Amino acid sequence: MADRIGPVAVLGATGAVGSALLVDLAARGVRPLAVVRPGSGGPSRDVADVVEGDLTRPESLLPALTGARTLLLLTPLHPAQDSLQRAIVEVAKEAGVERVVKVSALGADPAARCSIHRQHGLVEEALAESGLRHTLVRPNGFAQNLRQWLPGITARGAIALPVGDAEVSWVDVRDVAAVAAVALTDPALDGAVLEVTGPRALDYPTVAGYFSRELGREVRFVDVSPEAAFDAMTGAGMPPWAAEARLGLYATYRAGEAALVTTTVEDVVGRPARALTSVVGELLGRTPV
Ligand SMILES: NC(=O)c1ccc[n+]([C@@H]2O[C@H](COP(=O)([O-])OP(=O)(O)OC[C@H]3O[C@@H](n4cnc5c(N)ncnc54)[C@H](OP(=O)(O)O)[C@@H]3O)[C@@H](O)[C@H]2O)c1
Repeated sequence: MADRIGPVAVLGATGAVGSALLVDLAARGVRPLAVVRPGSGGPSRDVADVVEGDLTRPESLLPALTGARTLLLLTPLHPAQDSLQRAIVEVAKEAGVERVVKVSALGADPAARCSIHRQHGLVEEALAESGLRHTLVRPNGFAQNLRQWLPGITARGAIALPVGDAEVSWVDVRDVAAVAAVALTDPALDGAVLEVTGPRALDYPTVAGYFSRELGREVRFVDVSPEAAFDAMTGAGMPPWAAEARLGLYATYRAGEAALVTTTVEDVVGRPARALTSVVGELLGRTPV
């Protein structure tokens, strides 16, 4: 396998997608090069070689990427995610990388009003212009994000968000990683746009009901205004740009744009996408996530 795809470099290898991805790559007999934040320990040496590189200084990645043929392009939420990733694409090209698998987002579009979707769309555009072979992995919201709801559930028995009657096909981050692992190791997926979702679109009262059932007490969904949500997020210490970015995302949810259900996980990985109910149980400590 490794011969066919050449050395693989993974950005964000200690994050939500990256850590699951290393497990999947190991199962496929691929030992990637994990590019990690300077000074951080990085992942276990059992599953990856490790090299330091700072994602906020794309030029620092040149030595790390030199010798890699395939790249997993991923950066965290950042106010300049688009310009950072576009610079990383340039560095990758200079380093001799031939194929890129980009973790993007469902709804990516250079003209999107939602800043996160616009950032990803601009990077997708840059990849198309780069001439590099590439695959776009566009996940919906990660099921594991629901962990952020736990303080509100514990304190008030409520999930308070500005999403109205939105439905979302939350996707298990392990399914996103599994799709990315196939894309990294199968050049037949070069050029593909993979929209990755969970198996069902669910509204928030339904998901609140899952928490109620698991906890044995009522958990309510409360629709709040974007202004109230902004105050709550920034009051809890979130930077204003990140709170604005989330409000943009919630607006797309209210507009029905997160309700799409695809069969990508089954089609690409060969097994069904994981259900949200199991993640809710895991988040509450029923079984390890
Ligand atoms: N969350 C969602 O629901 C969702 C849905 C669709 C798309 N996405 C997209 O997925 C991407 C985020 O993926 P994720 O959730 O797996 O990310 P994550 O869990 O936030 O992990 C970020 C990774 O980047 C590393 N990192 C951060 N700053 C760095 C730096 N300066 N230099 C080197 N490494 C650095 C982190 O390392 P440390 O461990 O050292 O911090 C970590 O490995 C974003 O592009 C987001 O838009 C997310």
